[in-house]
Amino acid sequence: MAFRLICFLFPLLLTQLCSTTVQSYQIISLGLSLTALDDNTSWPSPSGEFAFGFQKIENGCFLLAIWFDKIPEKTIVWSANRNNPVKRGSNVMLTEDGRLVLNDQNGKSIWRADTAGRRPAFAAMLDNGNFVLANYDSDNLWDSFSQPTDTILPAQTLIQGSKLIARYSTKNYSTGRFVFTLKSDGNLELCTTAFPFDYDDSCYWSSKTGGSGFRVIFNQSGEIYLEAKNKTMLTNLSPIVPSTQDFYHKAILEYDGVFRHYVYPKHPSLRDAGWPMKWSPVSFLPLNICLQLTENEGGGACGFNSYCSLGDNHRPNCKCPPGYTFLDSDDVMKGCKQEFVSQNCEEASQAADLFHLEAKENTDWPFSDYGHFKTVSEDWCRNACLNDCFCAVAIFRNGECWKKRIPLSNGRCFSGCVLLWLWENKEDSVRNNGARNKSAKFHLQ
Ligand SMILES: *[C@@H]1O[C@H](CO)[C@@H](O)[C@H](O)[C@H]1NC(C)=O
Ligand SMILES: *[C@@H]1O[C@H](CO)[C@@H](O)[C@H](O)[C@H]1NC(C)=O
Ligand SMILES: *[C@@H]1O[C@H](CO)[C@@H](O)[C@H](O)[C@H]1NC(C)=O
Ligand SMILES: *[C@@H]1O[C@H](CO)[C@@H](O)[C@H](O)[C@H]1NC(C)=O
Ligand SMILES: *[C@@H]1O[C@H](CO)[C@@H](O)[C@H](O)[C@H]1NC(C)=O
Repeated sequence: MAFRLICFLFPLLLTQLCSTTVQSYQIISLGLSLTALDDNTSWPSPSGEFAFGFQKIENGCFLLAIWFDKIPEKTIVWSANRNNPVKRGSNVMLTEDGRLVLNDQNGKSIWRADTAGRRPAFAAMLDNGNFVLANYDSDNLWDSFSQPTDTILPAQTLIQGSKLIARYSTKNYSTGRFVFTLKSDGNLELCTTAFPFDYDDSCYWSSKTGGSGFRVIFNQSGEIYLEAKNKTMLTNLSPIVPSTQDFYHKAILEYDGVFRHYVYPKHPSLRDAGWPMKWSPVSFLPLNICLQLTENEGGGACGFNSYCSLGDNHRPNCKCPPGYTFLDSDDVMKGCKQEFVSQNCEEASQAADLFHLEAKENTDWPFSDYGHFKTVSEDWCRNACLNDCFCAVAIFRNGECWKKRIPLSNGRCFSGCVLLWLWENKEDSVRNNGARNKSAKFHLQ
């Protein structure tokens, strides 16, 4: 665990490394290394607010990461090997020739900081959360702020072409299903990825600043905005925020596709002012991911055959319709699977009485239509779906009837939906005395 810290103060370097605030830093000299063990070895920043090193994750593997070190959660803000966690005994080394290399437990090199052939003289973990490799000519040759994973911090900027890729789930740090990207044309967008690839697929929020967006700034006061080359603010992503003196700040594209700005009180005294000692979100983008994320290919915010209602903190709340269960209860965004035998197309008219339709209000799968009929009655719509073996759901609204097919996609539910659903479910099980797994079709108004 022993490592050497040689403390110098280079006023000249300081101004270069941290252009906005002057802060002291400790030099991590060439030849030093850290090993992934259970003793929490790390290279801390001078204030102790951030640390660089190995952090153990859920499956017992380690990420080479940067985290908030003064809070109990040790929240990770950056990692080198998110898609390739390493085992106990792996190490990170700042070699004598200035390379920062991550070796796995077998000594195989799996990641290195790319300094484009230039030779750093030392590394430093700065108090703003940036880990830098620099030479004595004050050139910053590599820094973690330029290689963001899913999080940005005050003093960090995103230039054109950079992106944040959400992690897969709360505890799985590997690249997930959403991306926040400042395109090279200047448009800032939130998009789904074509998972397992990380290129963007369908976008659900845009700053509409093609031709003018230049960079995203998370400034020292904690405001996040997109600015033009001439420094005009184009889009304010997080306008009014608590001070960076009293709060830690981070903005993250979360696994659920929502970009959130969070704050965490630095002092317990702020509890009296109503701030819990945990990360509290202060802004969200988009405001309603259930409604805003609509894609022609792909299932929407909650996956196929599911529906999404907006929960606390603008979090999508994924549910399965009756007769369906989650494909993976640990990963509800994967969608739902059918739990009943499908209607037999050969004998549709007989099979029809095995099925019934349930009325649900304020729910829709707007992109799953395959049939549309006008000036019909509710009964007509009901029978048309019951007698059609392709029909999974029928929607009746103001004399119009839509037939929907499997897999249902982009399911969403409006206010009041959840309560009605629960009530109906109960009644329905009693009424049908256990035949619920055949009652696949339902009817929406
Ligand atoms: C490492 O950190 C964890 C979590 O903060 C703590 O529970 C554990 O005691 C620490 N281990 C050592 C050896 O300091
Ligand atoms: C994290 O998610 C990815 C993508 O689904 C998966 O391949 C990987 O095994 C998961 N990792 C863990 C530790 O569960
Ligand atoms: C700055 O740039 C933006 C976008 O390109 C433009 O709309 C605005 O007029 C410019 N402002 C000034 C003061 O030049
Ligand atoms: C951060 O941005 C806001 C909005 O433009 C501005 O009012 C504030 O002065 C800025 N803070 C710093 C430290 O630049
Ligand atoms: C479906 O219904 C049958 C008969 O009531 C029952 O045995 C079976 O467990 C049910 N399956 C599910 C998935 O609910």
